[in-house]
Amino acid sequence: MTQPVIAPDHIPADLYDVIAALCRTSIDVAAIIAKGPLGQSLGNLVGENSDGDGQKALDVLCDEMFTAALTRENVRWYASEEQETVNSLNENGKYALAIDPLDGSSNIDVNVSIGTIFSIFEAKDDAEASFLRPASEQVCGGYVVYGPQTALVVTFGAGTQMYVLDPDTKVFILVEEKMTIAPTSKEFAINASNYRHWVQPVRAYVDNCLAGKDGPHGKDYNMRWVGSLVAETHRILSRGGIFLYPSDARKGYENGRLRMIYECAPIAFVIEQAGGRATDGETPILERQVDTLHGRVPLVFGSAEKVTRVAEHHNMPAV
Ligand code: F6P
Repeated sequence: MTQPVIAPDHIPADLYDVIAALCRTSIDVAAIIAKGPLGQSLGNLVGENSDGDGQKALDVLCDEMFTAALTRENVRWYASEEQETVNSLNENGKYALAIDPLDGSSNIDVNVSIGTIFSIFEAKDDAEASFLRPASEQVCGGYVVYGPQTALVVTFGAGTQMYVLDPDTKVFILVEEKMTIAPTSKEFAINASNYRHWVQPVRAYVDNCLAGKDGPHGKDYNMRWVGSLVAETHRILSRGGIFLYPSDARKGYENGRLRMIYECAPIAFVIEQAGGRATDGETPILERQVDTLHGRVPLVFGSAEKVTRVAEHHNMPAV
């Protein structure tokens, strides 16, 4: 008998087939990515999504692959970062699934980790209302990172698990049953080129990090910025740290860059279930909701102590 693509032990029975379909599709996506320039021209710009973001060939291909795979499953509504409206898949499906089919697409052509992020709610009769609700109502959140290893990190609300794809057997193997994020760390991740646009509390926080041993934090920091949310999340889950994509003064960045439904909500769920924190700077992401499918929220997540400190900066008088 062939081994299932992922063992059912830690997956709620009703969701198993959906997760297995995500796993099978991500194995195909990983194979396409691994071929890079030997295969199709994955990084070519082929259009624009509803927000005016450039769509790369791989963004569109992945969206088509996940749609096709999930059509056969227990998924009633499918919302994708690449599509303007919600798709109806299986009218008897129990779930509503939101997906960023290919996150970090600026890294497609440079052989750096990219990923797929997904979030699952129980479906309501109304397509949009199935997603426009508090992030705490998710029944599952997770991502697949396509890097040196292909790994699935997922939560169903009882801890965060990590599986790594065995390239020989094409099976996702459980490697961590309950991930925990280091409570503190010396590493921060932010796109520092936007410094002059940030809100004051974020500038103050980063200034304190940059001041190192001589500043109020009393320690030297290291900075990282990959430009793929999944890669930053995976690093922070593995060794702690903090990620910030704050709101800033640029047009269109009033609520940061990242989409609530496809990115912030599932990442926040995974992080909180691993003992970290995820906020919009002050308020937990899991307490927030947006009123449009592609709505954005500022995102600050990682080691609990660091995220709490950023929130404290928001409550301090500006200097
Ligand atoms: O939302 C897509 C994304 O590529 C994320 O994966 C990443 O964290 C962020 O945008 C990078 O933003 P910037 O272009 O400002 O570096």
